[in-house]
Amino acid sequence: MPSLTVHAGGLTLRNPVMLAAGILGTTGASLRRAALAGAGGVVTKSLGSVPRDGHPGPTIVQVDCGLLNAMGLPNPSYKKFQEEIDIARTGGVPVVASIFGSSAEEFAGIARGLDADAFELNLSCPHAEKYGSELGRYPDLVEAVTGAVKAAANAPVWVKLTPNTADIVELGQAAQRGGADAVVAINTLKAMAIDIETGYPILGNRFGGLSGPAIKPVAVRSVYDLALRLDIPVIGVGGVTSWEDAVEMIMAGACAVQVGTALQKGYGIFEEISLGLARYLERKSMTLEDIRGMAGRHY
Ligand code: FUM
Repeated sequence: MPSLTVHAGGLTLRNPVMLAAGILGTTGASLRRAALAGAGGVVTKSLGSVPRDGHPGPTIVQVDCGLLNAMGLPNPSYKKFQEEIDIARTGGVPVVASIFGSSAEEFAGIARGLDADAFELNLSCPHAEKYGSELGRYPDLVEAVTGAVKAAANAPVWVKLTPNTADIVELGQAAQRGGADAVVAINTLKAMAIDIETGYPILGNRFGGLSGPAIKPVAVRSVYDLALRLDIPVIGVGGVTSWEDAVEMIMAGACAVQVGTALQKGYGIFEEISLGLARYLERKSMTLEDIRGMAGRHY
């Protein structure tokens, strides 16, 4: 079987199939389980500087084409979560801490105080006042936050970008100027669902973020544009549900992919995607390097 080892944004991953932020990343035990099930790396639920309850329920609703969530960044604070990261690390793969803040200083303070293998800056959550895309849709803020975290952290820094913008490449370029080691594209698309019996929005927060198969073409296009225009690696996330989706994302230019909503199928998804990817490469007599960015080389 061909090797699936990749070097992605300052980390070496045994395979390019990672657990995405927000899904099963709320305890060290679940992160470790994802690692033992075959993930090449795992990302925690987003961590802030103080404990946070999140939005009122309902916080998740299944829609025909994916999942809508408005969790509202619930977390016990980064200080409290360190012990979970330490447990997650016993799974033997890199543990990436997703972090959020309302200013460059707040982000930097968390990165300074947390011991993780890399940081993923959540500049893209579409439904939390003062956080996420409320900062991350402005290139100057993306650059400032990235620069502040780079100066504070002693681990690689990835920036998770929002698709809820006119030009995601501008945001990626800002992250690159700030010194990011990689960008992660994309977070969820701002969306809502309404209960037609009552006329009320279903989510407690009224609107949230759409993930799953519906957003995969948006993610593929974003990864493609970013990979063509940036010098730093792009990690693809958004609707990856099968090994075929992973191949498509890598052909768009991703050096690794993250799996989130598809975890509804169970932890076996990591091995399923890795095995399918390896078999595909073997059948084609190609390497990951050969197919990475292939779609961009046709023009
Ligand atoms: O609310 C949440 O925890 C989701 C975060 C995100 O979409 O980045």
